[in-house]
Amino acid sequence: MSATITGYGLAVPEGRLTNADLEARVDTNDAWIVERTGIRERRIAGPDETTASLGALAGAIAIKDAGLQPADIDLLIVATATPEQPIPHTGAFVGETLGLRCGSFDLGAGCAGFVYGLVAAAGMVAAGTRNVLLIGAETLSRVVDPEDRGTCVLFGDGAGAAVLAATDRRGILAWDLGCDGSAAHLLEIPAGGSRRPTTIDTIAARDHYLKMAGQEVFRRAVRAVVDSARLTLERAGMEPSDVNWFVPHQANARIIEAAANRLGIPSERTLVNIDRYGNTSSASIPLALFEAVADGRVREGDIVLASGFGAGMTWASALLEWGRQ
Ligand code: ACO
Repeated sequence: MSATITGYGLAVPEGRLTNADLEARVDTNDAWIVERTGIRERRIAGPDETTASLGALAGAIAIKDAGLQPADIDLLIVATATPEQPIPHTGAFVGETLGLRCGSFDLGAGCAGFVYGLVAAAGMVAAGTRNVLLIGAETLSRVVDPEDRGTCVLFGDGAGAAVLAATDRRGILAWDLGCDGSAAHLLEIPAGGSRRPTTIDTIAARDHYLKMAGQEVFRRAVRAVVDSARLTLERAGMEPSDVNWFVPHQANARIIEAAANRLGIPSERTLVNIDRYGNTSSASIPLALFEAVADGRVREGDIVLASGFGAGMTWASALLEWGRQ
């Protein structure tokens, strides 16, 4: 028995932040951002929007899309790197908004969170759970340093959700998860946790904001995505040529291009929407995949290879045959 996605939902804020808006704030320009990252605009949460509110919106759409009621959901997993608050977990807020009383937990695996969640949800389905609601939700705009041009141009907000249930079809075919903690320092929010609780000094040092060694993350990201995708294909006995749709984490158009090139997957079979959303971390893979399902590009029976990487540094790939039942 395998697990498949029986319903999906997306939610992005109305607010848009364009490259022109950023030009007015920091020393950057549209040409640099487009050439180096492929990003043209991002969605930014308004004052009343949060990780949980976006996640709940996407989750409600996914439940309906699966033809279910909230009471049919037996487990909620929220993948996020930007939780609602440190305690309690974001799933508590999302579950309350959706009217759920089932178990819930947050999953922290950086931008690889949604693919980690797919694997975790599939495992829970295999263990007998009927319907798992998986949500990737982020408000990166709340942790990005508005004065750091190396990061503030990259990130955006949004959420994607999927309901997973058992299927007689092939569903999730193979997966790979990994984490190299020796690279943890390359992408981090240094303060605000157990190691360095928030103080006036940590705030003065801007250590409550995201810090990233961009070039080194770039280098490792391409390698991680390629190695993980290859291993996953190998586990399923498939080749890159068997993949109808490659859905990489949307961190940088050049990372996507380099990884797809090395895998030998042409751009016509690679899903890219980073130009409109920037890097939305654990929401990026569902945003790219479900937009393509909604507009009819991804069809029943298509082989989909999702690959993410992120803070940790984590990586994750999942190969699945798209099918709603
Ligand atoms: N506008 C203009 N110039 C800039 C900007 C900007 N927004 N940002 C940096 N620069 C400058 C730098 O200061 C540098 O100037 P210098 O040569 O005078 O020192 C120059 O541009 C080149 O900087 P690089 O860092 O070498 O630029 P690079 O081509 O590597 O692009 C980028 C930077 C876009 C951050 C890239 O390294 C990248 O995308 N890295 C991966 C990031 C990533 O994937 N993060 C997500 C991980 S997933 C997660 O869990 C969040």
